[in-house]
Amino acid sequence: MNTATIPAGLGDAAREFLAEPKRLLIGAEWVEAADGRTFATLDPATGLEIAQVAHAGEADVQRAAAVAREAFEQGPWRSMRAADRGRLIMALADALEAHADELAQLESLDNGKPLGHARYVDVAGSIEHLRYFAGWPTKIEGAVLPVGGDQMLCYTREEPVGVCGQIIPWNFPLMMAAWKIAPALAAGCTVVLKPAEQTPLTALRLGELALEAGLPPGVLNVLSGDGETGAALVRCEGLDKIAFTGSTAVGREIGAIAGGALKRVTLELGGKSPNIILPDADLDTAINGSFQAIYFNAGQACNAGSRLFVPAAQFDEVTHALIERARAMRMGPGLDSATQLGPLVSAEQRERVLGYIDSGREAGAELLTGGEAALPDSGGWFVEPTLFATDSDELRISREEIFGPVLVASPYDTIEEVAARANATEYGLAAGVWTRDVSSAHRLAALLRAGSVYINQWGSVDPAAPFGGFKASGVGREHGRAGLAQYLETKTVWTAL
Ligand code: NAI
Ligand code: MG
Repeated sequence: MNTATIPAGLGDAAREFLAEPKRLLIGAEWVEAADGRTFATLDPATGLEIAQVAHAGEADVQRAAAVAREAFEQGPWRSMRAADRGRLIMALADALEAHADELAQLESLDNGKPLGHARYVDVAGSIEHLRYFAGWPTKIEGAVLPVGGDQMLCYTREEPVGVCGQIIPWNFPLMMAAWKIAPALAAGCTVVLKPAEQTPLTALRLGELALEAGLPPGVLNVLSGDGETGAALVRCEGLDKIAFTGSTAVGREIGAIAGGALKRVTLELGGKSPNIILPDADLDTAINGSFQAIYFNAGQACNAGSRLFVPAAQFDEVTHALIERARAMRMGPGLDSATQLGPLVSAEQRERVLGYIDSGREAGAELLTGGEAALPDSGGWFVEPTLFATDSDELRISREEIFGPVLVASPYDTIEEVAARANATEYGLAAGVWTRDVSSAHRLAALLRAGSVYINQWGSVDPAAPFGGFKASGVGREHGRAGLAQYLETKTVWTAL
């Protein structure tokens, strides 16, 4: 590894981690890919290589699935006392906390996001998620059913689904790993986790910490690799369930393949989430919240508030305030403490986002601010915070997920009109309403076809609160009891007395 590419701002622990070869975790062992392949993970702020990482192929997927199967069938994980399983998940949370700064630095370096966000959103959220699910094993209960009269004992058991393949994206790498593994582990499942090729580092570190925390070998396996690795997991006959977060296109493919094989599947996909300011809103709060809703994480969030609807009479005031803020945002590498907006995760994402910006311009949307690649001398993948205004709901920028710092604002006249326009999308992940009027708030909350509705805030998330999509935004829910249920099978036991 060329250490010259390791930027300042990285502590000793993160440097030590990067100095070791990045291999695959299968069972208790860190191994090279069977065919020896590796790939580079790059620093989005400079475009330079951070490390070479093992690239898992078909053979590695088969091996990891077999090891996870053995850990499921023969290992102690699902059969140990529920309290002990909970204690081990808690120990993993504690290990993450003990290494929180190191994890945040690795995340900021690999993904580009500001270090403070990595530490206090991603890493803190991952720890909370594991702690919440550590409490579940002791509360997974069946029921005794009043059927068959007194000649029959009928009860249910909630059993783990089995061996789970979990495929995650690059926008919140460690947090997506925690969202996936925590409910699976709580249920007693075993896991083969595949991080995104853009951001494999923190999932690999998570694998090390899981072994140190005492998770039995084979319960959590980590395979770094790309879409081919993910596709091999989806095809793998040895898996009982696939959980995926990522693009809607890949989600459709995975759903179709898993459906054909009758594998369990949960999908958390894209969004084009409408954010509605009502005429009576506290405008400062609404502007602040709407700004964060789109530009947080450089817009690389499935629940980004990427379509803003503003009453026609307030449209200029709101867009002016957003323009001012956008122009004041400081761009730079995530590890620089002054940075407010990091780079996009990859050159590919930057091209995709700039392509959308061009399509908006060409289609006649008014570009109010931004619109260009930024910090060209850095070598990194920066895009200016961008704001479009348009009356049209038909443009690609109004309909498709851009996944970058690009907001599309439109004026509207009546509540009925805006509710219909907000729902006229294939997606249904999130929606927001800013108002002082409780009846408008809750009437709209009922009308909006979205898995999460945010009133007078945007993007609240908690391990206890279900998260997921209507329509093309996904299948199933994560978090809370609903999220746990996706990792359980109900068995009904009948006994003639
Ligand atoms: P992607 O859906 O291709 O990648 C997400 C994960 O799926 C990665 O781990 C990838 O290796 C894996 N993968 C890719 N192809 C696969 C296949 N055929 N079978 C199994 N796994 C596969 O997303 P990508 O290309 O990184 O980003 C494209 C767009 O997807 C973004 O612009 C954004 O619109 C959307 N996206 C949405 C996310 C969300 O949180 N809902 C996260 C990441 C991307
Ligand atoms: Mg990377």
